[in-house]
Amino acid sequence: MSFDVDRVRALYPALDDGYAYLDAAAGTQVPRTVIEAIADAYRTGIGNLGGAFPASARSEAIVAECRRAVADLVGGTPEGVVLGPNMTTLTYRLANALAAGWEPGDEVVVSRLDHDANVRPWLQAAARRGAVARWAEVDLATGELPAGQYEGLVTPRTRLVAVSAASNVLGTRPDVAAISGTAHAAGALVYVDGVHAAAHGPVDAAALGADFYATSAYKWSGPHVGAVVADPALLERIRPDKLASSSDLVPERFEQGTSPFADFAGVVAAVDHQASLDPDASGSRRRRLLASMAAAEAYELELFAALLGGLEAMGHVTTYGKAARRTATAYFTVAGHDPRQVAGHLAAHRVNVWNGHNYAWELTGALAIRDAGSAVRAGLVHYNTREEVDRLLEGVAELGG
Ligand SMILES: Cc1ncc(COP(=O)(O)O)c(C=O)c1O
Repeated sequence: MSFDVDRVRALYPALDDGYAYLDAAAGTQVPRTVIEAIADAYRTGIGNLGGAFPASARSEAIVAECRRAVADLVGGTPEGVVLGPNMTTLTYRLANALAAGWEPGDEVVVSRLDHDANVRPWLQAAARRGAVARWAEVDLATGELPAGQYEGLVTPRTRLVAVSAASNVLGTRPDVAAISGTAHAAGALVYVDGVHAAAHGPVDAAALGADFYATSAYKWSGPHVGAVVADPALLERIRPDKLASSSDLVPERFEQGTSPFADFAGVVAAVDHQASLDPDASGSRRRRLLASMAAAEAYELELFAALLGGLEAMGHVTTYGKAARRTATAYFTVAGHDPRQVAGHLAAHRVNVWNGHNYAWELTGALAIRDAGSAVRAGLVHYNTREEVDRLLEGVAELGG
């Protein structure tokens, strides 16, 4: 199938402002259906959960539908979908709850590739319990996170391995299934950060061996809502801090306070949108998601080849990462210009890109670029075009004079 980007772009009102939104790795724009779903929830009337009146029942229905949608997106079961404000908050919550069972001398394995949200919560929880942190290192020349090193990192004392399904700056997609295999052989749990990955291709959390798969809807055309998906039987064994008066059921026991019900309606619309990216896809929503995300990934990678090829051809540009499997995310510096200046120059060309460490704190430190402002990130998603890529390349080329 050829990807009809004009059809897709017409669904996103914000894209009409003339800017090239190459900042998707930090968050996407949302289609009209998402805006309408949120507005409709408020328009129709929603209430808090557990009431004896219809508006309350409407919120309960939205929550249930939201769990089904996220489960379809990642290949989980609705009863295992924990919803919350964002991935960082949910990861802290899970880290604190899991760490309650750790003992001095237990171990966690984190990676130098990961966004800090899948590093710091584990390090801090481990430190409180006297547990030891071990580091998986990135091959800085390629940006790969070699899976083989986990054989030497995982021991019978390992309680948890935290690893990213894709780096939010280099795009690297580690071999998570192999890493999970090593972790599970030692009886450790695997917490997979899918925040970047889920926006850029089909997700099968079970195939990855993810005991927990974290994602955030604002990276895939939805509102600012996060989710962690796990086997409900595993969640049953974990006891997070909670109010005496709030539900002790799974997954509700992990959800603190009142939820943004209207935003949850937007999450459902976002998943439906992702499932519609290949208009020829048929069958269940899960099947349509797999087909649509494969089509979106193929389109993004084709655009990315032009972006990366163009950047690499410029003598004044240094690109970071050349992993064999990666998302359409470029990270680069321009000689003689700090990353903020480059982003400012591109903004004058109506091109939105990010500059800085983008919370890839350990990685930018290891690459020794963090103190100099790190790098510029151009992250593509399914609504970007070749014209936008060319506009970015022209802007960067101007800086070479
Ligand atoms: C790979 C990755 N992990 C985690 C996060 C944190 O997600 P959230 O903003 O939902 O806390 C981000 C956000 O940029 C990310 O890109």
